[in-house]
Amino acid sequence: MLARGRGSLLLQSVLIFLHVLQTCATKKGPPNIVFILTDDQDTVIGGETPITKTKKLIGDEGIIFRNMFATSPLCCPSRSSILTGNYVHNHGAVNNSVDGNCSSPTWQKQSETRAFITYLKKQKYTTFFAGKYLNQYGKPETGGPEHIPPGWDWWNGLVGNSKYYNYQLSVNGTAEKHKDSYQNDYLTDIINKRAEDFLQLQSPDSGPFFMMLSTPACHAPFTPAPQYNNSFNDTKAPRNGSFNVYGKDKHWLIRQAKSPLSDDAIATIDNVFRNRWRTLLSVDDMVENVINLLTQRKLLDNTYVFYSSDNGYHLGQFSLPQDKRQLYEFDVRVPLMVRGPGIKAGQLREEIILNIDLAPTFIALSAQTAPSQMDGMSFHNLLAQNATIPASSWRESFVIEHQGEYKQINPGCPQYNNMDLANCDPNCVCEDAKNNTYGCVRTLSADTNYMYCVFEDTENFEEFYDLNKDPDQLSNAIQTVSKSVLMDQGKKLMELSVCQGPSCRKIGPPHVLVN
Ligand SMILES: *[C@@H]1O[C@H](CO)[C@@H](O)[C@H](O)[C@H]1NC(C)=O
Ligand SMILES: *[C@@H]1O[C@H](CO)[C@@H](O)[C@H](O)[C@H]1NC(C)=O
Ligand SMILES: *[C@@H]1O[C@H](CO)[C@@H](O)[C@H](O)[C@H]1NC(C)=O
Ligand SMILES: *[C@@H]1O[C@H](CO)[C@@H](O)[C@H](O)[C@H]1NC(C)=O
Ligand SMILES: *[C@@H]1O[C@H](CO)[C@@H](O)[C@H](O)[C@H]1NC(C)=O
Ligand SMILES: *[C@@H]1O[C@H](CO)[C@@H](O)[C@H](O)[C@H]1NC(C)=O
Ligand SMILES: *[C@@H]1O[C@H](CO)[C@@H](O)[C@H](O)[C@H]1NC(C)=O
Ligand SMILES: *[C@@H]1O[C@H](CO)[C@@H](O)[C@H](O)[C@H]1NC(C)=O
Repeated sequence: MLARGRGSLLLQSVLIFLHVLQTCATKKGPPNIVFILTDDQDTVIGGETPITKTKKLIGDEGIIFRNMFATSPLCCPSRSSILTGNYVHNHGAVNNSVDGNCSSPTWQKQSETRAFITYLKKQKYTTFFAGKYLNQYGKPETGGPEHIPPGWDWWNGLVGNSKYYNYQLSVNGTAEKHKDSYQNDYLTDIINKRAEDFLQLQSPDSGPFFMMLSTPACHAPFTPAPQYNNSFNDTKAPRNGSFNVYGKDKHWLIRQAKSPLSDDAIATIDNVFRNRWRTLLSVDDMVENVINLLTQRKLLDNTYVFYSSDNGYHLGQFSLPQDKRQLYEFDVRVPLMVRGPGIKAGQLREEIILNIDLAPTFIALSAQTAPSQMDGMSFHNLLAQNATIPASSWRESFVIEHQGEYKQINPGCPQYNNMDLANCDPNCVCEDAKNNTYGCVRTLSADTNYMYCVFEDTENFEEFYDLNKDPDQLSNAIQTVSKSVLMDQGKKLMELSVCQGPSCRKIGPPHVLVN
């Protein structure tokens, strides 16, 4: 009974929204969509502070979603999820290497052909991409720069991983070399310029477009534009929360960290923190330019603008110097701001939104039904003005998946060769390991705020946090949590770790266990 009541309420809101969408559509045609994706931009350790223009022009003009998560804390797996709408266990890109299906020929055949852009292309969208795609894109073993992923018309794909200078772009399938002149090569600005060239050709009558701008900022090597090289001179990485705290009751990788951090390590952390903010100032300029152009071209009132990131970041949390790949909030929470037609300005929303929800949402906004194989849920009905979707009609749980990376050789730390560890710079503290492989279930509702994780290591290590009581995840509560809560979370973890399509989209409150 209850379930049916909720279902029909949801159906009603969807129908109302579709009606609104239709009435708009008859006047203006399908909406344009601009999607800005940054690299490694966190929300928990202050990553959104420098982008003040973006917050004003997108967030304050629309919705700031306060519970946006990556379902994997690593670039290529998360980006593959963004493109396909699928969890890692369904798209198979488990790490940043070709043999882990990052942009691999298998992935191109099985998953890339069903990426969201192919559905928008079928709706006659003109499609534009500029910036970082997948870490292994454009390499000889993944088809070289000649490979243009299906569905994209204007293609400016970065070969390989994020860089600011000295890189190659695939421009419509032809390699274009870039060196190190600020004017001609600084990648964030090049993305901005290519976006400008494209937008200058668009008008309210030229048909809908989808534009994805995927910046290297604020990923390593954190190279600021020269005019921002001295910005934030006095800024330091935040010292609160779990900064420089030894995670004595956590999994093995956290226990191997050197704590407290040395003064050198802290100086490096502060420097990286400042440079990340500096690189984001160029992103902020790009956002401002894009919004100005949309206004000048009279496109803004029929364009949705999304801003997000692939995963979070840590700098000193639990004494890990600098990376992602952890299950904690700093690595999995990312920004999400959306503005667009019919979205009331100045909203904060609390629903859980995931990286896998972007693909079905873009498809739904182009007035199609999201394909059933996608694990994510379209949140287009949360964008409608006065959306009153009851909390119980949205998800309350999801999974976070990571397969630890490892390299046989660790230059600089030969004592760790052949030990299945990776990213051991600086100071020989390793940021990943083969046994840093885990699945977590995260549950967040009006009265619950849990994270439960299980590791594939020799200890079958488990971690549990009640984030209402311990927001910084300082102490592992696995020994004290009640058996019924643990059983319930364990059941969800098991179900969601193998879910596919519809079974990932289950909604409603947590199961009630009957003893
Ligand atoms: C991942 O790659 C391996 C071998 O490269 C392949 O056998 C497997 O099917 C791929 N998985 C997916 C889901 O594409
Ligand atoms: C890339 O392809 C698009 C679509 O065909 C075309 O309009 C654009 O001019 C091309 N760009 C370059 C630099 O050739
Ligand atoms: C930016 O500052 C760094 C560190 O002070 C310096 O090494 C680098 O040369 C500067 N870059 C530019 C373009 O001024
Ligand atoms: C920032 O620091 C650099 C190097 O220490 C210095 O050259 C520069 O003048 C400072 N900039 C500002 C705005 O304080
Ligand atoms: C730490 O301080 C920053 C800046 O004051 C704040 O934005 C952030 O929420 C705080 N983080 C924690 C974990 O308390
Ligand atoms: C939303 O609510 C406001 C104020 O309650 C009302 O003025 C407006 O007409 C509503 N908009 C829609 C699309 O229902
Ligand atoms: C990536 O995943 C593949 C498949 O599981 C594995 O063979 C490879 O060693 C992994 N690469 C790294 C760097 O961990
Ligand atoms: C994790 O892997 C490292 C490196 O191979 C090893 O030293 C450590 O004992 C392992 N820990 C667990 C809990 O499996």
